Amino acid sequence: PATRYYHLELKVVKLSPDGYERPVWSVNDQYPGPLIQCNKGDRLVINVTNNSEDPATIHWHGIFQHNTNWYDGVPGQTQCPIPNRVSFTYNYTVDQFGTFWYHSHFLAQYVDGLVGVLIVHDPDDPYRNSYHEDYVITVSDWYHSPTAPLLVQRLAPHYTGFNPYPDSALISGVGQYNCSGAPAGYYCNRNVPPPTYNVNKGKKYRFRIINTSAYVTFTFSIDNHPLKVIEVEGTHVKNVSAATVTVIPIHVAQRYSVILDANQPVDNYYIRASIIDSCLPPRTNDTINYNSSINFNATGILHYQGAGSKKPTSTAYPFTIPLCQDLNASAIRPYKDSPAPSNVTNDFVFNITFARNDDDVGLLGINNSSFVPVFNNPTNLRIMLQENFTDFDKNQNAYGYDIPNGCVQITLLNNQPANHPFHLHGHTFWIVASGLGAFLSNISTSEYNLKNPVIRDTIIIPEFSHAVIRYLADNPGVWAFHCHIEWHVEMGLVAQLIERPTEFSNRTLPEDVRALCLQYDSYYKNHK
Ligand code: C2O
Repeated sequence: PATRYYHLELKVVKLSPDGYERPVWSVNDQYPGPLIQCNKGDRLVINVTNNSEDPATIHWHGIFQHNTNWYDGVPGQTQCPIPNRVSFTYNYTVDQFGTFWYHSHFLAQYVDGLVGVLIVHDPDDPYRNSYHEDYVITVSDWYHSPTAPLLVQRLAPHYTGFNPYPDSALISGVGQYNCSGAPAGYYCNRNVPPPTYNVNKGKKYRFRIINTSAYVTFTFSIDNHPLKVIEVEGTHVKNVSAATVTVIPIHVAQRYSVILDANQPVDNYYIRASIIDSCLPPRTNDTINYNSSINFNATGILHYQGAGSKKPTSTAYPFTIPLCQDLNASAIRPYKDSPAPSNVTNDFVFNITFARNDDDVGLLGINNSSFVPVFNNPTNLRIMLQENFTDFDKNQNAYGYDIPNGCVQITLLNNQPANHPFHLHGHTFWIVASGLGAFLSNISTSEYNLKNPVIRDTIIIPEFSHAVIRYLADNPGVWAFHCHIEWHVEMGLVAQLIERPTEFSNRTLPEDVRALCLQYDSYYKNHK
């Protein structure tokens, strides 16, 4: 195994991904940030320098962080934020493979641009000889306003609407906004060239598709080219005919790898990423950021070598989803059947709840608790440093769930009129059941699939439905479990799962993690 070094510089710069210029949180001056890649077994040493005015952290979405919980990048849970003009080095071994991404976990900063892709290659990939080239595509919603004022509106007392509405859809950081909605005096270019992917007729290509949105579900498709799914969030997929699909629904933070066979006539074809409007709540007069010239459809081009530069004339595959569901389980079974543990030792029921606080601010929660992070006093440091860690304020981060060891089962009940893509840090999980109805009485344990369930790290829980997941408590540390809609995170739809705290407290915290908290503390005292 190798050690691979990366340097990421965080900085706010003016960019115009969809033609409309705005300040963007860039990584090495790019949006999305640079691709990070390594092989399974390698060590990643990633130095992050924050050259912006605000603190930041980076989370490596889907990476287990075995033995390195303090590099998971969650402020208030696993580290202090990196203040401006400070560098911090993430240093971890990657004992898994697949398609991941990295993003800020501080406030809604990732929605302002702080995202990138992380790929871990597998030397034993059963599909390695089935494709010629490995391409990455991100799909994302995009907002013309920075998130700070949007959050102020979202969390204002008496606000009764839904979440801030996006202005555009992007493919690989590029969109085509109809500039007629841009206020006078703003720079807006209506002719941003579409992202283009080159293929040679007769060859096969892997595409890794990642939804880095704040809010929306996309459908992804490439005209005239069915896609064969081979990987879901770090798990290879069974080689069956059901795995070949024409249109893929992809929810916030989910990832798929597919193989495309370039077997069509030499030509140009549209790559399409469309926001599914029916997965979003209704727009009302007070919907934040609502702008009627939103572009729901981003397009890119699949270009066959020799096709010239004429515009595609291809047409989209038909597609409708009645509910905002995941890709059918039969399309994404694990390559090798991986039975879920049958013996549950920690059984949780999490109700997704909505309530208004004393100031009439609408908050989401789990079993009526909304998570409030305390950025200068992360839970894992409190556990590890115990009474030594007294130089920070004594506020406790909101409730956590203690997990001794064994197999955890979480039954998620979503009795709300909104869809929630839930992500678990530090693990993948088995989806043993999912379906309509948000009450325990809707769930029949005799229908659990323990034999060959889907494995992933991010699952959609559609409105008024449920899901039952299981995972092994094999990773001592503090792990976030949350809805990945960033507006919902800020409304408190986050739990922290405290796994094997006794064992964890005996580990040695790297000095730089504690030092970062001291640096953040002085930043914090100067900015109160
Ligand atoms: Cu993609 Cu808690 O993160």
